Amino acid sequence: MFQPDLLRQKRILITGGGTGLGKGMAHRFLELGATVYICGRRQHVLSETETELSRVASGKIRSLPCDIRDLLRVEQMIESIWKDGPLDILVNNAAGNFLARTEELSPGAFEAVLGIVLMGTINATMACGRRWLQALHPGVVLNIAATYSSTGSAYVVPSAMAKAGVVALTRSLAVEWGNRGIRMNAIAPGPIPTEGAFSRLLPRPELEQFARDRNPLRRFGTTEELANLAAFLVSDGSGYINGEVVVMDGGEQLQGAGEFSALGRLLTEDDWKSMKPRKAPKGRQ
Ligand code: COA
Repeated sequence: MFQPDLLRQKRILITGGGTGLGKGMAHRFLELGATVYICGRRQHVLSETETELSRVASGKIRSLPCDIRDLLRVEQMIESIWKDGPLDILVNNAAGNFLARTEELSPGAFEAVLGIVLMGTINATMACGRRWLQALHPGVVLNIAATYSSTGSAYVVPSAMAKAGVVALTRSLAVEWGNRGIRMNAIAPGPIPTEGAFSRLLPRPELEQFARDRNPLRRFGTTEELANLAAFLVSDGSGYINGEVVVMDGGEQLQGAGEFSALGRLLTEDDWKSMKPRKAPKGRQ
């Protein structure tokens, strides 16, 4: 799909890069020649991913343990990366989410999700952004949002609040920093099977089946599809795309929004036939 050296000489940090979508993007960016840094909270997970992905021929990978909720630790991590040389690209991918009825959430539950998704994104973006601006170094930020960033969603309210903030940050800084060489975009993915997300958001086979059936394409997205879109958006090939939120959900969001869209699943062949207008008998109008 891409030239094999699309991301050669690009230095990329992916938060939450040890697992799931972050790991998938790390794999693809390495194939395309990038130097990839991954961070996450669990050292053993990062080390395993680093070892596994270091076998991907083209690029180089290094892992750094970091809880992105902690500004001091983010600053230390970014400082340590910058000692090798400045980053070119930041992917804010780390997330936290779970299904719950909102009235049952504790303040700590809101704090945990908002801390990872919103504050984590802000911490990493500011740490890189300030360095890029000061050195007049171009930079690209790609944020992983959600299709419900703009609509909100029941049962994942802390995540919906945090992702809405991430989209606001994306659009705001795209304008504020654009004239100084920093591009900022987001991807809003629909359901893509990963252990972290599906164990928390679609934890039962019937929920998974329901999610698959309601998608216009009748399937989930793949990590590879997301990684390819991400590679395009962080590459110089998308240099004029700034402040955009690219939805990648098989049309799921539109399916939910269209007033009559659900009828396709409710009405049978006979129903459709019976609703066809009958021709008026000859001689009568
Ligand atoms: N329902 C309601 N509350 C929950 C919950 C659930 N399913 N899971 C956690 N919480 C609450 C806890 O009770 C706690 O609140 P308290 O301090 O008031 O008791 C708070 O959330 C923090 O939980 P804790 O497990 O201590 O936090 P953590 O920092 O270790 O984990 C989470 C953060 C909760 C977001 C955890 O799910 C996580 O680490 N997720 C990362 C991976 C992920 O979510 N991937 C999917 C992305 S789509």
